[in-house]
Amino acid sequence: MSDEPKLLESGPPAKWNRRSAFILAAIGSAVGLGNVWRFPFVCYENGGGAFLIPYLFAIITAGIPLLILEFSLGHKMASGAPLSFFKARRNSEWVGWLMVLVGFVITAYYAVIMSWCFNYLFQSFSLGWGDDPGGFFTDKLLHLSSGPGELGGLNWPLVAGLALTWIWIYFCIRKGAKSVGKVVLVTVPLPWLLLLILAIRGGTLEGAGAGLNYFLNPDWSKLLDPGVWLAAYGQVFFSFSLAFGVMITYASFLPRKSDINNNAVIIGLSDAATSFLAGLTVFSTLGFLAVGSHHTVAGVMESGPGLVFAVYPTILNQLPFWPGFFAAIFFIMLLTLGIDSAFSLVEASAEAWVNKLGLKRKPVLITVCVIAFAFGLLFATDGGLWWLDIVDNFINKFGLILGGLFECIVLGWLYGARKLREYANRDSEIKIGRWWDFLVKYFTPAILVVTFGMDLVKTVTEPYGGYPDWALFAGGWGVVAAVFVLSFVFMRIHANKNRAPAGEQGGGTGE
Ligand code: PHE
Repeated sequence: MSDEPKLLESGPPAKWNRRSAFILAAIGSAVGLGNVWRFPFVCYENGGGAFLIPYLFAIITAGIPLLILEFSLGHKMASGAPLSFFKARRNSEWVGWLMVLVGFVITAYYAVIMSWCFNYLFQSFSLGWGDDPGGFFTDKLLHLSSGPGELGGLNWPLVAGLALTWIWIYFCIRKGAKSVGKVVLVTVPLPWLLLLILAIRGGTLEGAGAGLNYFLNPDWSKLLDPGVWLAAYGQVFFSFSLAFGVMITYASFLPRKSDINNNAVIIGLSDAATSFLAGLTVFSTLGFLAVGSHHTVAGVMESGPGLVFAVYPTILNQLPFWPGFFAAIFFIMLLTLGIDSAFSLVEASAEAWVNKLGLKRKPVLITVCVIAFAFGLLFATDGGLWWLDIVDNFINKFGLILGGLFECIVLGWLYGARKLREYANRDSEIKIGRWWDFLVKYFTPAILVVTFGMDLVKTVTEPYGGYPDWALFAGGWGVVAAVFVLSFVFMRIHANKNRAPAGEQGGGTGE
């Protein structure tokens, strides 16, 4: 793992000044809020300890192979996602835009979740959520309205937190890889350290054993359920930040001689290890709450925002010493976990436009941040949480799955998996064999098609979350459709001549 030289002899300048900067930035993107609340519950619901088998299988057969795919593409083409796809296959530029747009939508609400964290952080030392954290979350903080139809006004503390988040994001990526490389020296190790402190605190609480038992108690019969295997793939895709254009963009800043395969393995395993540690922390602490409240562990748990913003503060209230201190640690951990995931998505968008329009970075970046902030205001209203829930569900299900599928088709079939494999192997210590082509061309697309089919049937037959049709139409199908339409529109925008000769653009039917 020696440091790479600062500049290369040919090709575009290397922008990461150390190999570890790239590795940390990619880990920073992968490790996010999803590791803390998503993994532990997906694991719990799908067989506990037994789930680790399909999970590991999904990492080996899809997670790491697709990281290698995205790293090779970004590195070879030395461009953001859309331009990388353009260079691979002219008419497939829209796939890159699709990924970037899906990521853009996600950042818009991810930043709002970070704004909640800021608001909680300010309440931490005084445990300002009082005895009823659940009520504090929905009534005092969100002023949650009765449904998506009642938007209400802007919620100013949330808007303030959102503005703070966007200013923070802007300053982290202002100078691209240079500033990101510095920021991740803090934002990657710090949440690990805080997580470790919380794990030790959780593990030494009364009831921890019961909680861990729940989490890891293996239910082998679940391994026969195909849904469990699909859940493992879904978790790996989201957690590894695949199909969002992020890993393509980050790899484009690597020096020419880089060990792609090794990087992918390190990044994948670090993400998985973080999820596991988060699982231990969350469940040992839930065990404590269950013992204290004379409930079963199953009775006190809740996944999603409920866990982080209602259940966890309840536990913090009961800590025997320094509750305010541990509360602050918890929310600082969430903020530092989230920030590098959030800015990796913004970086993917900004780089795409810098490539396309040949403009300077700064105005592009400011524009992206301002538009995402404005879009995020929708989620900072009294009805915001309803819309966040709908948009999150649809864009993650359909945008992500279809982005991954088209990526495999374009790169595996049209461009050629073999070419990318040979490219990845060139400077890599561990060489990947032809089995990799099989995974990229047949195996992963098959998994994605099945997942897509099942999700589609489910979504059509039972309206998500019991929301009214018009709301699902606008926030769900509408957003997914808009993202597709815009990816073709953006493909047809005339590129700056630095990028491609006039006339080379467009004309694509998108295949
Ligand atoms: N991987 C991040 C998480 O686990 C989420 C994320 C997805 C970040 C896509 C960037 C891109 O929370």
